[in-house]
Amino acid sequence: MYPNRYLVPAAMIAAALTFTAGKTLAESHSASVDTTAEAPADVEFADGKVVFRAALDDAPLVFEHRTEQTLTPQVEEFHTTGVNPYSGDADAIEAGGKSYKKLCQSCHLKDGAGRIGPSLNDNNWERDRTHTEVGRFEIIYGGGAGAMQAFGQRADQDDILKIMAFIDTLRLEK
Ligand code: HEC
Repeated sequence: MYPNRYLVPAAMIAAALTFTAGKTLAESHSASVDTTAEAPADVEFADGKVVFRAALDDAPLVFEHRTEQTLTPQVEEFHTTGVNPYSGDADAIEAGGKSYKKLCQSCHLKDGAGRIGPSLNDNNWERDRTHTEVGRFEIIYGGGAGAMQAFGQRADQDDILKIMAFIDTLRLEK
């Protein structure tokens, strides 16, 4: 009954189960997604903040879209830790799934298998940086080549983090 097929250490499973006490087993599966507290070693930091880079030229990413948006505590946390605080959060995953359907599904498909854009439901990332949450945020916010527009123009940073939490579940479902 425990989600140990994801090979997370017992302590993390215990933490996830405590966290999700009272929720259904299906939800406790998603809550055990990526409980890593630290960003991967190749995420860069400067002055206590993550250094984000544009996917196309590696130049520092300029946060120029939707400047009126509210930067939620989760967004602030992501900019500080490089870890998506919404990973495994059932409500965030649900909201992210709705945005994914509207903004992403036409190219990446419902299950993330990919069509016009690459697959998002395995761990084969096409770009150098997209194996990290920071790298995925960069290309979603700031855009990539061709059809991969800067979705920071159409979604707040908080929404992008929720979409990323949803995409994580596509990898686990495979
Ligand atoms: C109109 C088609 C289109 C839409 C809509 C679209 N993408 Fe993409 N996506 C692409 C293409 C094409 C690429 C490859 C671009 C590149 O590598 O520079 C890509 C690349 C990506 C990558 C990097 C994948 C890798 O393997 O490195 C991620 C992550 C991604 N998209 C997420 C999203 C998300 C999230 C949304 C919705 C907010 C979205 N995309 C909407 C076409 C699209």
